[in-house]
Amino acid sequence: MKIGVICGGLSSEREVSLRTGDAIFRALLKKGYNVVKIDMDRNIAETLKKENIDFAFIALHGKYGEDGAIQGLLEIMDIPYTGSGILASSLAIDKIMTKKILKAEGIPTPDYISFNFDENPNLEAISSEILQTLKLPVVIKAPREGSTIGIEFVFSEQELPKAIKKVLEIDKQLLVEEFIEGVEVTASVLGNSNPVVLPLIEIVSKTRFYDYEAKYTPGLSEHIIPPRISPELSQKVTEFARKTYKALGCRGFARVDFMIDVRKNEAYVLEVNTIPGMTATSLFPDAAKAQGISFEDLVEKILMLGLE
Ligand code: DAL
Ligand code: MG
Repeated sequence: MKIGVICGGLSSEREVSLRTGDAIFRALLKKGYNVVKIDMDRNIAETLKKENIDFAFIALHGKYGEDGAIQGLLEIMDIPYTGSGILASSLAIDKIMTKKILKAEGIPTPDYISFNFDENPNLEAISSEILQTLKLPVVIKAPREGSTIGIEFVFSEQELPKAIKKVLEIDKQLLVEEFIEGVEVTASVLGNSNPVVLPLIEIVSKTRFYDYEAKYTPGLSEHIIPPRISPELSQKVTEFARKTYKALGCRGFARVDFMIDVRKNEAYVLEVNTIPGMTATSLFPDAAKAQGISFEDLVEKILMLGLE
């Protein structure tokens, strides 16, 4: 069996994906697999044909890699692949669609409103609607990005127009969420029809927010296992993570990110990452390690789940 690790790609998370891809490639080599690394560009269909792979390990993040696009192409080419399929990928990449499903399933997620600037190109109207509907502080997000790209925190009314403009440079659709002050916790989920939740991780950022820099600079964030929250809250996170994974129809693996409001004793799902980072500083491999699963074994497990 020849495995192609597809990485790099065309999204804003290209650099992260190259690191994820390299780590996965090395792990598969170490396990003795026949493996080739493939950088995804617009000629990916030709490359896949030329390389004649039997299986694709998708190590892409963001647009075209984590949103159902490459999954669709692989299905047309009849090449099996790792992780979620077309529908779960395209739902999870869109934080607004994810929240609609979470609401329908009764899974807590921060209150929000969304705007499409193409349909409603009035900055003042958008600002005033935000202030009328939500309590400050709020977080403005480009709904289809990852790695904290296109995210602005707004603490005062004055900051609002500038923050909206900044996010609009990335996407004409805006997600505006109430900011939950609390403990950031992530749940790594592994499996197909009967997924398991690996040990939860609390994230402590040395920068003000757990942003791009904190995520990928060694030493700028700390992973605390288990999180410093009550057993009851940990139980909630585990249950909501599993429920979210099932509701979206995820397969293989995914990471569900939470904010915990300790005072309200509630866990809020922020988003689902269907291809979570697998770099040296990444969360998912750390969760597996805490369960006694080495990185190489984790990669092989994800591969096996893709072959099921
Ligand atoms: N989007 C990045 C890769 C993550 O969630 O890990
Ligand atoms: Mg994400």
